[in-house]
Amino acid sequence: MRQHMKPAAQTECACRPSSGTTGTRPAGPPWSATRKPSSSTTTSPRSPGTSAVDLACGNGQWTRQLAAWGLNTHGFDFSAEALRQAAAAGAPDVTYTYWDIDGDPIHHNLRPGSVDLVTCRYSLPYLQYERLLTDVGRWLPPSGTFYALVYVDQPGVSRKPDADPFHRGFTEDEIQALSSGWAFRRTYSLSRSQKAVVLRGYS
Ligand SMILES: C[S@@+](CC[C@H](N)C(=O)[O-])C[C@H]1O[C@@H](n2cnc3c(N)ncnc32)[C@H](O)[C@@H]1O
Repeated sequence: MRQHMKPAAQTECACRPSSGTTGTRPAGPPWSATRKPSSSTTTSPRSPGTSAVDLACGNGQWTRQLAAWGLNTHGFDFSAEALRQAAAAGAPDVTYTYWDIDGDPIHHNLRPGSVDLVTCRYSLPYLQYERLLTDVGRWLPPSGTFYALVYVDQPGVSRKPDADPFHRGFTEDEIQALSSGWAFRRTYSLSRSQKAVVLRGYS
């Protein structure tokens, strides 16, 4: 997909686990199920030195939220216009870089075990996600976390030619399959049509 996507709306991150999971409702950053509840999405304690990568970051709305939570954050996208908007929004502790995640060599910053958190908001279905997740598993240390927010498709719906190209999602089966090879997996239903996926411990 070579066209720029419309920026998606900021999504509430506290969420309830979907059936079949044992998760508790995380109230801080969504990858941190053990974090104590906080009253605001921007008041979580800072973790100096903690690094995050936001894949296919678009205009950086989510990337900047990660930075507001205290993470040194690097957003990647292949849309020059999205990156221009991201840079124009400005924020400390955020870097944006052009990278075609499917087509270019892996960015040199992404060495094995080099990043504590990798996120991908609304973008995973646009990418070669099976290959990408094996790479993500390498970039994370054993304590690292992958977090994705995805739209949930009814089987057959999103793949129709007239489906909304800006809301590409996964079926429930595809969401289940994302966890292959990960020791820890939890999904959270944010609404009927959105799920958060948290993965740790790729082997
Ligand atoms: C639906 S938007 C989501 C943007 C952002 N993550 C958000 O939550 O607002 C999908 C993004 O994926 C990016 N994208 C799609 N394919 C890509 C690729 N191969 N490499 C890098 N970015 C890609 C698009 O440029 C777009 O910004």
